[in-house]
Amino acid sequence: MASTRFKNVIAGQLAKLTGTDASAIARAIDRPKVKGHGTFSIPLPRLLPASVTSGGKKKKADKKTASESKETLGVVAEVQGGRIPDARATLLARIQNEFDTSGMIRSVQPAGQFLNFTVNEPQYLHDTIQDVVRAENAKQAALSSSTSSTSFSSASSTATTSTSTGTWNAHVESLGYGMDPTVGEGKVVAIDYSSPNIAKPFHGGHLRGTILGNFATRLLRGFGYHVVGINYLGDWGKQYGLMAVGFDRYGDRTKLHQDPIKHLYDVYVRINQDITTNPGLDKLANQYFKQMEDGDPAVLSLWQEFRTLSIDFYRRIYKRLGIEFDIYSGESESARFVPQAYELLRTKGLLKEEADGAWVVDLEKFGLGVCTLRRADGTTLYLTRDVAACLERAERFKFDRHLYMIGDDQNLHMKRLFKIMELAFATEAAETSKDQKQQEHWSRSLQHISFGKVQGMSTRKGNAVFLEDILDTAQSTMLEKMKENQAKFDAVKESSSGREGEGSVELVADQLGISAVVIQDFQAKSHKGYEFSWKRMTESTGNTGIYLQYAYARLCGIADKSGTTLNTSANTSLLTEPEAYELANMISQYPDITLSTLHTLEPSTIVNYLFGLSHAISSANQVLQVKAAAEAGEKDLAEARLLLLWCARVTLGNGMRILGLEPLERM
Ligand code: ARG
Repeated sequence: MASTRFKNVIAGQLAKLTGTDASAIARAIDRPKVKGHGTFSIPLPRLLPASVTSGGKKKKADKKTASESKETLGVVAEVQGGRIPDARATLLARIQNEFDTSGMIRSVQPAGQFLNFTVNEPQYLHDTIQDVVRAENAKQAALSSSTSSTSFSSASSTATTSTSTGTWNAHVESLGYGMDPTVGEGKVVAIDYSSPNIAKPFHGGHLRGTILGNFATRLLRGFGYHVVGINYLGDWGKQYGLMAVGFDRYGDRTKLHQDPIKHLYDVYVRINQDITTNPGLDKLANQYFKQMEDGDPAVLSLWQEFRTLSIDFYRRIYKRLGIEFDIYSGESESARFVPQAYELLRTKGLLKEEADGAWVVDLEKFGLGVCTLRRADGTTLYLTRDVAACLERAERFKFDRHLYMIGDDQNLHMKRLFKIMELAFATEAAETSKDQKQQEHWSRSLQHISFGKVQGMSTRKGNAVFLEDILDTAQSTMLEKMKENQAKFDAVKESSSGREGEGSVELVADQLGISAVVIQDFQAKSHKGYEFSWKRMTESTGNTGIYLQYAYARLCGIADKSGTTLNTSANTSLLTEPEAYELANMISQYPDITLSTLHTLEPSTIVNYLFGLSHAISSANQVLQVKAAAEAGEKDLAEARLLLLWCARVTLGNGMRILGLEPLERM
């Protein structure tokens, strides 16, 4: 990528001049925070030996760098006298005199604590555009060699490959510019996300977990990982005993089939009211759950029906979000692995029996309390089932990494789970870490991606929130907004010519609604909570999902009306306007952004980047008129402009897709 190549050129030269390690310098090169300060920048202290920057006192000095520097750096004499400003001045003078500014790099300028570099802009622009073209060609090649399907709402296109761990779907639509499928090649990541509870509302935490899991899945797939998306339903436990009791009283089969999620919730609410005046029901529920755990087929068949109907319903709603899980599992399924889990923990000496007959794991010395894994009556708990599920997944998927996207109200639960796994596999993990070539043991790869709360989420239908109602409210809000501009609304309708499927006004409104919800959520850093606001998120100006969709659709509109066809080898040296370079520079940063996000899994980084990109696009649109150039007979110029705008569109579209949005060509 252009950005990497140019950084390496800078680093290579600086390494020679300062005696500092080139790859360390390359890592320290960043983008200047101030506009007009060139394309790249490095903090000056990073070029001085550590002994200098710590005032000669040498705290945690990088010994290697310091001694290497001593050999080559003429300024060390002054440095050891402790006179930092002199050392810096000498170093600077040397860099400024000797740095080669006749090739890819055009100038070196100090500014405060930084050294800034301007690049050979026409070359940088050209290289960036070619990076995009190359990556998109590779994506097209991958797409056409796989079973393709272009519609977002239908099954995603997959290229199926066989590996030792089974058949996997390499989701080729995650490829393209900004992705590097070699990074995670051969690695398996399990992601447990969304995981709602049957018969209970889908709260803000589930919404966040759902879209965050979708984002992580798409990002990791783009980097070549095999992702196993697991929806671990809350479908087991005492409350399902209570549900069955409730269904006897209030159940209605017709309603159950119409909307299982809402009907089961209604039943659940009513039976919970009853229980406040009739404590006998609680005992009944316990008995019922005991029968479930004992595998009584009569009791289980009703529960199985609740579960199947709910999953079918959920599947449809997730599809609106472009989400497909590889596996619908649930607490009920892990119940089968419970005996194995007890066995393991007992062999490792972790499971203790209490006086009342309950089985516990004592995590007191880690500040995590004493955790019950088996109640005195023999039934399991949420934690028990998570231990069992984790063991099962390790065996079944042989994952290299396992992510759990769950709200911060379950931090303690996750800590307990991970600690139990760590203790249970301490010996195995120690063995693995001795072998340098081996990756760390799976029990050390468990990661809780925790996030803050969503406040004030309610829909038109009330406060008990269901995912479907959130999406419906978002959709109808956007439909109303679209109707405010009747001419535009008619145009969208016209272009979809009454189609019901892809491209229909309803689907456009649905996508806009989803974009609004997702971008509002992803704007704040995940660990922070936020206030859900229909008004703010659906605005078309400011940093909203609607604005991103608008920027994308506008680029499509410009291309359609430009009277110019895309020529990927257009002469980019004709793009001399500062706005053109600014846009190319923005585009060139995208692969760095995705790579750094791969490590943090923080969507706000990509969201902020896409807003920056959209602003650069909007400035460029004002000056780089394609149609006008074409009409003036400047075909080459029109083609060059169109190519740059196409690269911007590809980048924006790829970024939106990673976040879980489907870019709209019209809105
Ligand atoms: N069903 C749980 C809830 O709604 C979330 C499950 C998360 N995943 C897990 N493996 N514990 O709170």
